[in-house]
Amino acid sequence: MNASEALDLPLLEEGLLRVEPLLNANVVTGDSFLDSVTTHLIAAGGKRLRPLLALAAATGGEREATHDDLMGAVAVELVHLASLYHDDVLDEATIRRNVESVNSRFGNLVAIVAGDYLLARSAAIAASLGTEVAALLAETLAKLCQGQVAEVRSAFQITRSREDYIRAITGKTAALTSTSCRIGALTGGRPSTEVDALTEYGHCFGMVFQIRDDILDITATAGELLKPAGQDLAEGIYNLPTLVALADPDSGPDLRALLGQPLGQPEREKACAIVAASSGIGVAVNEARTYVERARDATSGVSNHALQEGLTQLATELLSDLPG
Ligand code: FPP
Ligand code: MG
Repeated sequence: MNASEALDLPLLEEGLLRVEPLLNANVVTGDSFLDSVTTHLIAAGGKRLRPLLALAAATGGEREATHDDLMGAVAVELVHLASLYHDDVLDEATIRRNVESVNSRFGNLVAIVAGDYLLARSAAIAASLGTEVAALLAETLAKLCQGQVAEVRSAFQITRSREDYIRAITGKTAALTSTSCRIGALTGGRPSTEVDALTEYGHCFGMVFQIRDDILDITATAGELLKPAGQDLAEGIYNLPTLVALADPDSGPDLRALLGQPLGQPEREKACAIVAASSGIGVAVNEARTYVERARDATSGVSNHALQEGLTQLATELLSDLPG
């Protein structure tokens, strides 16, 4: 998915290009070792979805981004990067964005402290944008942690509820996409009804994004994912497709016999095949569609028609590589 193309708003790509040097400039310390750690994942690239949401919400592509719009975009991307530094320590990941992960390259301790450093830089930027943005980012950080803890606590639990899943992804993913839109809407000086509409859009976008990611973890090939399929199953993270498959009398018994414990390669492939063939995929795709509808409804609160259309297209695009 090319997110900028889906949004199709003038001046947005240009704004995103201006974010890149600012990301680097805001994390360099002058200490060459620390700089190589703090810029590691920035250099590896990425979709920059959160800055894109922030800039789209701020400008609607109608005008050039201001310094505050750009710094809001930098602040949310730094929180995202920090969460990946920490997530890769938790997951003992070795690869991220097609390069060696920070923990693998520099060790867990450095990865954790460098993640904290990125958060500190983000907090300082948020403070420069005013108390509302600073408070918003701090609350979002708390939600990210709550979402992540919910996920860790439910690891390997075949009795995990759908509500628990929704709660976890609301925190770990949708909180930051929602805040990205809200910060953009605030730096862009939009009226409060539009700020709220864009916040709701960002929440729904994040939900679709994560549900899609969780479906693809089962259905995509290792080549498409840049990691082996069934990674979440192997880590004991039972997502919506798996929870539905566990509850379905057709697939549940065989799946329950495998899950609840770490999996070797043959068991992982078997579990992945059971979930892929189960009703769980269709149910999860439908859930994603429901959030796209909600995202579309939210955009009706935005006055700029091109922005409405672009945001709806962006959310719809997320469904394009899903089965069914
Ligand atoms: C990646 O998701 C991880 C997240 C979306 C959030 C992780 C949050 C924390 C570690 C809490 C602490 C937060 C901060 C800001 C320090 P994933 O594991 O589903 O996807 P992946 O396959 O890309 O790893
Ligand atoms: Mg992870």
